Amino acid sequence: MSTNINNNGLPNIDDLQLLANELFKALPNEFPKEISLSPDKSEHPRAAKLAETILHTGSSDSLNQVPLAVPSNVQPAQHSFSGFGVSPSVIDYGNTGASVLYPNAGAGFDPQSENYSKGIHDNQNLNLNNPQTGFYDINLNNGTPQLNEESIFSSIALNNQYLPFQTESSSFEIELQTALASVDTQFRKRVDFPFNGNETAAAYYFLEQNPFAFDRRSSNIIVGNSFDTKEIPLFKATHFDAALVKKDFPILNETVNGKPLVWFDNAATTQKPKSVIDRIAYFYEHENSNIHRAAHELAARASDAYEAAREKVKTFLNANSVNEIVFVRGATEGINLVASTWGEHNLSSGDEIIVSNLEHHANIVPWKRLADKKGLKLRVIPVDDDGQILLDEYAKLLNSKTRLVAFTQVSNALGTVTPAKKIVEMAHAAGAKVLIDGAQSVSHMKVDVQHLNPDWLVFSGHKLFGPTGIGALYGKENLLNEMEPYQSGGNMIQDVTFEEIKYHKAPNRFEAGTGNIADAIGLGAAIDYVSKLGIEAIGQYEHFLLEYATRLLKEIPGVRLIGTAKDKASVLSFNLQGYSNDQVGQALNREGVAVRTGHHCAQPILRRMGVETTVRPSLAFYNTTEDVDTFIKTLWELKKVKF
Ligand code: ALA
Repeated sequence: MSTNINNNGLPNIDDLQLLANELFKALPNEFPKEISLSPDKSEHPRAAKLAETILHTGSSDSLNQVPLAVPSNVQPAQHSFSGFGVSPSVIDYGNTGASVLYPNAGAGFDPQSENYSKGIHDNQNLNLNNPQTGFYDINLNNGTPQLNEESIFSSIALNNQYLPFQTESSSFEIELQTALASVDTQFRKRVDFPFNGNETAAAYYFLEQNPFAFDRRSSNIIVGNSFDTKEIPLFKATHFDAALVKKDFPILNETVNGKPLVWFDNAATTQKPKSVIDRIAYFYEHENSNIHRAAHELAARASDAYEAAREKVKTFLNANSVNEIVFVRGATEGINLVASTWGEHNLSSGDEIIVSNLEHHANIVPWKRLADKKGLKLRVIPVDDDGQILLDEYAKLLNSKTRLVAFTQVSNALGTVTPAKKIVEMAHAAGAKVLIDGAQSVSHMKVDVQHLNPDWLVFSGHKLFGPTGIGALYGKENLLNEMEPYQSGGNMIQDVTFEEIKYHKAPNRFEAGTGNIADAIGLGAAIDYVSKLGIEAIGQYEHFLLEYATRLLKEIPGVRLIGTAKDKASVLSFNLQGYSNDQVGQALNREGVAVRTGHHCAQPILRRMGVETTVRPSLAFYNTTEDVDTFIKTLWELKKVKF
């Protein structure tokens, strides 16, 4: 590209803007195109701002520090525009305001995955052609230290790799890189992470703030039958800005019945951030192949990406090894796997399985079927009227015949958070194995399998802001290797003759056939997203939101909250006197508010609470107090009609 240089030695803004536009458009996962800083939509929203910033910087001290001459050790670019030969270190601008490319580049490279790429990726560029070595959630920045221009140039020289727009020997592109690296504070400032003084907040490129910024705001709360603006005391005077986070979720821009969508059906499934959607698209556009089965490039990319996703699940759960992580279709399949393998081969007539009264059907039906088939006894831990497990009663159920305790960490119907560690300890003391159903917990709290110490734990990706059709079964490695295989076929075998079959060890032992490769990778991206927000921060914010909503809901006459345990995750099951649950659900839908109504696939616990069905709003970190206000206001409107 030819460039004009102004009298002051700076490139002309139109050239800069054009170049920046090309750069952003060329990036495979650029987002969000809809947030435009320019009325001209063909312009990438960040291009104008970037060029402007650089121009303004030109008169400031910061640009004066940027050498415009190309260092002598920098070689001209060799790659074609479409080559995308970008090394992680070259594009790592750390926290530069530009956050132009992949701010976390290099951080994700995984020795485990290298097993699959060795010999194939050698001597080749890694990053964008193989995102697992540096594919980033484009919205987030984990605070990678900022590179100065010296380190950028030395990385360029070292790697001999270049930005995508470096198509010729012009020094201008190199200058632009340097200029981009200088604009750090022009776009945003770093803010101290309010929950941990030692950490630095992740930077969010879509706005000049991040969701952890300190903020005190008033919220509408309802007094009597009318809205009244009052100051709501915020937890610890900090505010997780869900309105900012919401922008990462394209579907939350939808309108329903002309109203902005309020997604309060998170216990059924969660919405997906753009980074997850993009990651799956990227897989199909650049990596799609079967895994572990070929020596070609795409097989290596796909295998790398799949195994890197397993590593992410391992880290997320704090498992000891990737061998403890089996990809399954979801929590339901994970439980069925344990029932059909360990349960089928290790339990016999007279043995006892304990579940809790809180379980959803996925953690009842497989055990009940097994019990019926093998003459086992299924015993149930009762709950109190608030919906919390009665540990004393549980203790009475445990005995030498107890072989398994299977229970949920968070109730999908009531939101109860069970005392999981205690339940596991008591089961182990009785000599039983333990399975934790983490379907409703992993998105709300830190789930650490080494701390909780279950023998198995299952969860579903789609409830963790990831795709449907993928989830994970954690199991202790020795135990998994002792278990019989689940389904049979390719991938799970070591050797096959007509006389004898040798099986792989876990996890492949349980992953027969071609798995859900793309969605496993999407799950990895979801874990990246959640991890960068911080699961503890998510938990704190949701706790605040739950308290806010609970308080307002309880003020509405005729509302009966079902599930009032002291320790709850963000579920608010209720009935509204004078209306069927479906009527309430439909009224909310008219206002754009999506809630689940019905038995929530957990009939036993609802019956224990004296109802057949409830209305169940369930909250996530992208929900706001304004969303809650819309929900509450609609219920008040219903009350006004009847009373
Ligand atoms: N278990 C899911 C729910 O709670 C389907 O809605």
